Amino acid sequence: DAEYLSSLVNWKEGLISPEIFIDPEIYRLEQERIFGRSWLFLAHDSMIPKPNDFFATYMGGDPVLVVRQPDGGVEAFLNVCRHRGMKVCRAESGNTRTFMCTYHGWTYDTAGGLVGVPNLDDAYYNELSLKDNGLVKVAQIDSYKGLIFGNFDPSAPPLADYLGDLKYYIDGWVDHTENGIEVLPGVVKWTINANWKLAAEQFVGDTYHAPTSHASSLLMFGPAFAGKDGGHVAMREGHGESFLFERLTRFEDDPLGRYNETRSRAARERVGDRAEFVANFTAFPAFSGLPGSANIRVWHPKGPNKFEIWSFTVVDKDAPEAARRAQQVSASFTEGPAGVVETDDGENWGLIGHILEHGHQARKMAWNYEMGRGHTREHEEFPGEYGDSFFGEDGQRAFYRRWLEFMISKTWPTIPEEPGKPGGAELPEGSP
Ligand code: FES
Repeated sequence: DAEYLSSLVNWKEGLISPEIFIDPEIYRLEQERIFGRSWLFLAHDSMIPKPNDFFATYMGGDPVLVVRQPDGGVEAFLNVCRHRGMKVCRAESGNTRTFMCTYHGWTYDTAGGLVGVPNLDDAYYNELSLKDNGLVKVAQIDSYKGLIFGNFDPSAPPLADYLGDLKYYIDGWVDHTENGIEVLPGVVKWTINANWKLAAEQFVGDTYHAPTSHASSLLMFGPAFAGKDGGHVAMREGHGESFLFERLTRFEDDPLGRYNETRSRAARERVGDRAEFVANFTAFPAFSGLPGSANIRVWHPKGPNKFEIWSFTVVDKDAPEAARRAQQVSASFTEGPAGVVETDDGENWGLIGHILEHGHQARKMAWNYEMGRGHTREHEEFPGEYGDSFFGEDGQRAFYRRWLEFMISKTWPTIPEEPGKPGGAELPEGSP
């Protein structure tokens, strides 16, 4: 209940119980209250450019199909047959006019309508309503500059409001060239035995882990990650980003580095300093990215102690072929499942997951999230609560504040001016 959840998440003091990373009941409630009500990233426009293009993904634990409609719009449906709940599409992406369930053969069109039922006449006596048995639609679909999101909750506010301050930072990497970005074909997917929030909160703003966890890969990259001049922002909507101000070329002869340098001035003119940020962000709850490394990703929950990473490589639409290729190689080399950076993170998350699964005493202690408490300020340029250091845990505390508001609110959580005020989350007496 609300009181119990509030006792686990003391975001003000920066004390979080690890129960929220392992308890099956909390995981089940997240499916309803977090993934059932948040705007969740589905795909980028460039992944489904033509009518009847589709991409199969998940919203929380639910499989969904994202489909480009003939009129250019996008719809999303549960990838679940109305007959016995089988997936109606087992491919990961493609182009089709129909989705045929491989269990008994019910067939749906790309608008989700049921258009074919074997033995409709001699088994159903033509009494089955096709109209009432279409695929279940995702209540709301919206996009921001090519990034398509879905929301199961018809009462959720518009996507632009939900993204709030994060839009400024998204613009830095989506709008930095005239023609914008595209996602390269091939989603890389792998599994980690840990809770999805460990990854989401790291991308919110845990740059603090990099010098220790990635010590050996940082030595190899040399100047690319040498800069320490940066900051971080915590956003009231639960999003967070931290950034280094300066992008440095990774290798002298790198075509990607050369391309980045040539476009740098124009990009700065278009969107200012944010064009050059080497950054990490999370859009609450589970959409993250590394704008400087042109990588975006979704953390798909697969149980209290298991999640899948889906990683997408992003390039500028007008980047030359050599730079696109270099971007893809760089993404695999660093952030792929066997990447020199990614494996460090997977090892950390997996070991924490193992401790929480098998330990008992370890679940009773609170984890410490107090870094930087009380040291944020308003910044003249950067929206959100700004911290002057590249390191800080303000974003994580804001993330868990939002998490708590969603978890204990029966209706869509509006942002309260102060916790407990009318119109806000229904926070119980004495909660943080
Ligand atoms: Fe799909 Fe039976 S489960 S046709």
